[in-house]
Amino acid sequence: MSATIIDGKATARAIRAEIAERVRARTDAGVRPPGLAVVIVGEDPASQSYVRGKRKAATAAGFHSVVHELPGDTSREKLLSTIDALNDDPAIDGYLCQLPLPDHLDKQEVIQRIDPEKDVDGFHPINVGRLAAGLPGFIPCTPRGCRELLLRGGFETEGRHAVVLGRSNLVGRPMAMLLGQKGPGGNATVEVCHSRSGDLAEACRRADILISAIGRPDFVTADMVKPGATVIDVGINRVDAPQGPGSEKGYRLVGDVDFDAVSQVAGAITPVPGGVGPMTIAMLLQNTLDAWERRTGG
Ligand code: GUN
Repeated sequence: MSATIIDGKATARAIRAEIAERVRARTDAGVRPPGLAVVIVGEDPASQSYVRGKRKAATAAGFHSVVHELPGDTSREKLLSTIDALNDDPAIDGYLCQLPLPDHLDKQEVIQRIDPEKDVDGFHPINVGRLAAGLPGFIPCTPRGCRELLLRGGFETEGRHAVVLGRSNLVGRPMAMLLGQKGPGGNATVEVCHSRSGDLAEACRRADILISAIGRPDFVTADMVKPGATVIDVGINRVDAPQGPGSEKGYRLVGDVDFDAVSQVAGAITPVPGGVGPMTIAMLLQNTLDAWERRTGG
């Protein structure tokens, strides 16, 4: 059996076009454009690449897009004052501080300084709490993107057994909450596994829907997947590529899932790249659009 490929790139393109259309309609009527800012501290190449992607997508959708590039030795005070200025900036509807931060900065202090109403990452404890309580709030972009792929692809979650590999605040934990909550894209029975779980392979084989966010190349092998399961691969791992695809950059991106083998067993699967990655950016635009609609009375 060969799995259906879930095309995150095409889905993200369609969502970005819907967002651009909404922006055009309201800005033509005289409303200011949505404002999205990104703060990046230091020169981590992967983070720089993500931030370039976010800026490009925001501009293409008609957003006002701002990037604050701060040096790696930026002081705590300077970073917090940048955040305070964004909280006060009426042209900015949402913003995020790209992670990871350099070691001398306290990630939680930074996240908690962000105005929860502009927290388009959904990382502030207020938004985490809203999600846990089933209240409206910002949903972290990657899990929201995974849910959107399931919804738009017509993959039923209600009554299904979902297994989430990974318990991070960015992906695993909010993903489990979304799958387990009431409503479309939810109502699943959810099992969360992590590095200290007992028999991961056995747990994975129970999954009708398997979401891997564990950050280890080719971790999920074909023998861990139930025939016909829907497999969502959140992993974006850089592996050395001295020759062949990616050799010009010296690396290539692979997911957590052994794609070639698992696609012979699964019913549907996301590729890497071109699966969840583009959806994360589309959901960042969607969260910012939602904030803008609220703030401008849309
Ligand atoms: N680094 C990797 N993914 C993310 C994300 O979704 N948000 C932020 N702020 N940093 C990240």
